[in-house]
Amino acid sequence: MQANKLKQLYLDFYKNKNHQIVPSSSIVPENDPTTLFTGSGMQPMMEYFLGVPHPKGSRIVDIQKCFRSQDIEEIGDNRHITFFEMLGNWSFGDYFKNEQLEWLFDFLVNKINLDPKKLFVTVFSGNIKLNIDKDLDSVEIWKKLFSKVGIEAIDIDHSQINGMQAGRIFYFDEKYNWWSRAGVPDNMPAGEPGGPDSEVFYDFGADKKIHENSLFKNQVCHVNCDCGRFLEICNSVFMQYRKQNDGGFIELSQRNVDFGGGFERILAAINDVNDVFMTSIFKDIIEYLEMISNKKYSESEKNKRSFRVVADHLRAAVMLAADGVYPSNKEQGYFSRRLVRRSVRYAKMIGINDLFIKDLVPLIIGLYQDFYPDLLSKSNEIQNVLSQEEKKFAQTIQKGLKEIEKHSVLNGEIAFKLYETHGFPFELTKEIAQEKGQTVSLESFQKAQKAHADLSRSSSSQKFKGGLQDSSVETTRYHTATHLLHAALRKILGKHVEQKGSNITANRLRFDFSHPKALTKEEIIEVENQINAWITESLTVSVKYMKKSEALKSGAIAFFVEKYPEDVTVYTIGNGTDTSWVSRELCGGPHVENTSQIGHIQIFKEQAISNGIRRIYLR
Ligand code: ALA
Repeated sequence: MQANKLKQLYLDFYKNKNHQIVPSSSIVPENDPTTLFTGSGMQPMMEYFLGVPHPKGSRIVDIQKCFRSQDIEEIGDNRHITFFEMLGNWSFGDYFKNEQLEWLFDFLVNKINLDPKKLFVTVFSGNIKLNIDKDLDSVEIWKKLFSKVGIEAIDIDHSQINGMQAGRIFYFDEKYNWWSRAGVPDNMPAGEPGGPDSEVFYDFGADKKIHENSLFKNQVCHVNCDCGRFLEICNSVFMQYRKQNDGGFIELSQRNVDFGGGFERILAAINDVNDVFMTSIFKDIIEYLEMISNKKYSESEKNKRSFRVVADHLRAAVMLAADGVYPSNKEQGYFSRRLVRRSVRYAKMIGINDLFIKDLVPLIIGLYQDFYPDLLSKSNEIQNVLSQEEKKFAQTIQKGLKEIEKHSVLNGEIAFKLYETHGFPFELTKEIAQEKGQTVSLESFQKAQKAHADLSRSSSSQKFKGGLQDSSVETTRYHTATHLLHAALRKILGKHVEQKGSNITANRLRFDFSHPKALTKEEIIEVENQINAWITESLTVSVKYMKKSEALKSGAIAFFVEKYPEDVTVYTIGNGTDTSWVSRELCGGPHVENTSQIGHIQIFKEQAISNGIRRIYLR
């Protein structure tokens, strides 16, 4: 089945059940500074679970673009992907378990013709401590549904993992069958909604146990064992509870359904191939890579892994770019950069040494342009930014790899030197070390980075004269300018200004922030003058390593607080005492050492990008 047909069938099916179709939200969450990316269909729906009426009613269906950055290093097996689309249907205090499971089963078995014998389900086993019961309602419903197609569905308590035991319905605890944005109940902050869920697995057959290296390889196979035989294709969350201050749960004022179906995984089930990279949404990309590499995807597991990384990462980079995320050193852009750079490296492993991204981008856009028509108009720009990044990285890699060859044993210091002189990413050194059977820890890298920062702080201003010479000079200048812009906006417009994102290219800086109305001409001039004044004052940019709590106490701002580890780097801009600074932010750097290195700046555009969010361009 073709990808677009599955999407249409799904939307139509729920439309016929009185659902309103809504378009996907952006992969970059709006007004949600707690997370960099939309990672599930429910994130943009949070407020509606809590009782705010959805403008389109209580039954909604959509297909949400999602990106899970934490999976970048997982890519390479048959089912993990960073970008994916999630089929979603929602009941906001409307229907509940009966309709949800009945319709879902009907869709899977009768609309897309999955063989019910190959479907297995899990339900929540209950938790006495939380006072939440075993989900016997769902079990009852599943039994009825399976019996209608001639299958006796036996329910098995799976607290002791001992294989399938001829079961069809399995009880699992909150580690598997509970959903909230924060994960298991223990990790949820007070106020957060969540609930038990029921997952559907597709069985590709006992002979498809492919994960020989799986942690679970010595276990008897079961649905959640991750060996590759079973694939979780969808999840119905019964979003029904809210965490209390005392750690307990109370019922929400309404009972909701949050359904998420893995689009690529359902396609794999429809095609009965246990490899999402063999479905129509990836096939053309894989075939194109086969053509230019002269290698076969299925030749070896190693080849497969490289093909999968390249295909996954570029598809994700294109879809991120479509939502305005371009390669940079910060926030979302950092992930785009990593995706492009990793894909270049893995392409090399299958013998693709020439620039290839420019030609691959239109192919990827072709796969999505019918469903996301805005992609077409952005095609050229996406092609340009991603292939520019590829070129830049090709130079970096060449220099870095040559340098690496000189060392038989890699360590944090070498990793830092490579990063410092060639912009060679730490992750890459780490991976290369791993391939050599060595380890380079992040701590050792950070130690070297700190030693360097200490040194450069105490050294004279000699360095400013020569300046940095590599291609990252421009972006580093803009990066520091971002902090000045942020500080100027907060000084002039008020403390309600919060950074919502930023994007830097060699030619300009783009900055998104919260502010309820357009800036006046006078305000723009004032902001611009303030930044230029700080630049002229030649303020020192200094870096400090501290505990996150300590950093926040010292007045540092951070708009993605949760994203930072416990030990953070804090950049302060300003001369003089510890209290008279201009800007202090949690940030990974890099920055110029003195604001005079930024040079004169100018704001050349100011616009709205969504309700309450403005965008400023500066060069
Ligand atoms: N929110 C649920 C998930 O992402 C449906 O699995």
